[in-house]
Amino acid sequence: MEEFRALWVSEDANGNFDRKIIVRKTTVLEEKGVLIKVSYSSLNYKDALSSTGNKGVTRRYPHTPGIDAAGTVEQSNSPDFKIGDPVIVTGYDLGMNTCGGFGGYINVPSGWVVPMPAGLSAEDSMTLGTAGFTAALAVHHLIRSGQKPDSGSILVTGASGGVGCLTVALLSVLGFEVIASTGKPGQHDLLKRLGAKTIIDRAEVDDKTNKALLKPRWSGAIDTAGGNILATVLKACAEHGNVASCGNVASPLLNTTVFPFILNGVNLLGVNSATTPMVLRKEIWLKLANEWKIPHLAAIRQVTSIDGLEDWIQRILKGEVAGRVVVRH
Ligand SMILES: NC(=O)c1ccc[n+]([C@@H]2O[C@H](COP(=O)([O-])OP(=O)(O)OC[C@H]3O[C@@H](n4cnc5c(N)ncnc54)[C@H](OP(=O)(O)O)[C@@H]3O)[C@@H](O)[C@H]2O)c1
Repeated sequence: MEEFRALWVSEDANGNFDRKIIVRKTTVLEEKGVLIKVSYSSLNYKDALSSTGNKGVTRRYPHTPGIDAAGTVEQSNSPDFKIGDPVIVTGYDLGMNTCGGFGGYINVPSGWVVPMPAGLSAEDSMTLGTAGFTAALAVHHLIRSGQKPDSGSILVTGASGGVGCLTVALLSVLGFEVIASTGKPGQHDLLKRLGAKTIIDRAEVDDKTNKALLKPRWSGAIDTAGGNILATVLKACAEHGNVASCGNVASPLLNTTVFPFILNGVNLLGVNSATTPMVLRKEIWLKLANEWKIPHLAAIRQVTSIDGLEDWIQRILKGEVAGRVVVRH
């Protein structure tokens, strides 16, 4: 039995949520099969929602958020994992209703655990985390739908955010020409360094004309915003382009006509990283450690301990964070 520190989110009788750091024992974690000592986690937008009482993400409190964790196996009921194995866990129920990576230990089913690919450090794996995995999954869906670098440029929305900046970097590694849309003028240099060819203001992807279709501006897109931004992305996508929908930071609503689909043959592709089957999950992580390896990871991460998380949680909720926030235990 070990003691560990964890971010602890609790709800009072009036429905207010409080966050503090507490000391817990590994024996209080529900036994699910594999006990992992967490060395790194990361902060995603979803973690901020869980940390502030969003019941669409976390139904039951008190709770420790953190949908990402990297560390080493301490106990295992599975022949697939032995003590000391370096591993990654992202998605499934981790950090939602299963205590997550903002604690020093997690206990998870063996079916959620990915062996750390050779060539990836724990810190780099969490700089990627769910954001990098989602970026790679979205790119995988685009390529599988026939998108090629010579099809034309790809728009990335929310480009300075976690999923966005890693998508920009990965598409550039794979030879795609990237248009990055951002609301942060101060992050243009970073986006250029990550490989963006063109940078546009977020307002340019927020069409208010009510036209069903717009002049084509990109041959495909990866969208993290939803709402009118996704509607605009679809209207201005070239014929037979592919658009991957990953997020809803602007809005979960999508008000569109069928014309991008039935006149332009645009494909709208859904991306759900949390429930990605293990075979594809391992394939994507292996690629991220090898032929899809993203350079510049050190340039896009800010490292904090769980004690410093409060400020980052507030900032990510306001859309102010650029790059990735990595949590070191
Ligand atoms: N489908 C999946 O499996 C999956 C996995 C991970 C994340 N997600 C979702 O993807 C989205 C992004 O996640 P993240 O962790 O990358 O978040 P993040 O780091 O906070 O990035 C979001 C970015 O979106 C832009 N943005 C913020 N508020 C906006 C608004 N009101 N309208 C338009 N753009 C806005 C900002 O970038 P700019 O200033 O550069 O525009 C911000 O940095 C979230 O909705 C998250 O839930 C989905």
